[in-house]
Amino acid sequence: MREWPAGMVWRNHFRRSLLEELEARTRDEWGPGERELLGPSLAQFQLGESSDGRHLLRYARKFGEASGDTWLGEAMALFIEEENRHARWLGEFLKAQGYPLLQRCWSDAVFRVLRKGLGFGLMAGVLVCAEIVAVPYYAAVREATASRWLKAICTRLLRDEAMHLRFQATNLGAVWRRWEALRLLRGGHKALMAAICVVVWGEHGEVLRRGGYTRLTFTARCLELLEEVHAGALAAQRKEWTARMPAAVR
Ligand SMILES: [Fe+2]
Ligand SMILES: [Fe+2]
Repeated sequence: MREWPAGMVWRNHFRRSLLEELEARTRDEWGPGERELLGPSLAQFQLGESSDGRHLLRYARKFGEASGDTWLGEAMALFIEEENRHARWLGEFLKAQGYPLLQRCWSDAVFRVLRKGLGFGLMAGVLVCAEIVAVPYYAAVREATASRWLKAICTRLLRDEAMHLRFQATNLGAVWRRWEALRLLRGGHKALMAAICVVVWGEHGEVLRRGGYTRLTFTARCLELLEEVHAGALAAQRKEWTARMPAAVR
């Protein structure tokens, strides 16, 4: 069977995905108390989704060229476009509720600095932790809100983010083909994920709690998703990536 470059497959995926607009556009309002509960937290996620991904794109292009997958740069550019569309959808919702958007926040700034000097492999490793957190988070927001509009946004974001985890698993797998001491690295990755969970629970615990999570189930869910991403990355490393994708995010 002919094997297509992973970057090309993902470029095609993101092209198709970007053609599909958000389905339900009923512009309703959030319920009582949601401004206080969801507002500050959603504004942070909105900002997080709005990164221009300059460094990520530069690294992806360089890595793609070095590893013989020149499509990767274009796939990454479209991925960033999709994330920015998430920011736009959330921004539209917050603005319609009269809630101000954030220009900056400390956790976003730390995250951006962290990603800047890392190189493609480590950057993808950090990025995937943020993508993983988004899965239980948007599931919790969908549970917590009375707004059908916000629920529809969350449903679509969850669908997109599930594919993002697969995309990042493919990228990690491509990086891992060139790396030694994988066991140690995977251990470090899990430790980073657990540390990020502590910070995210500190900032967004109330929303996650309303969505039915406890600190423990939230952390367990994130670690489970990371495990699935690693399984996908190991398959990608062996170039079996089309056959074995993370099951938990299917
Ligand atoms: Fe996103
Ligand atoms: Fe994402």
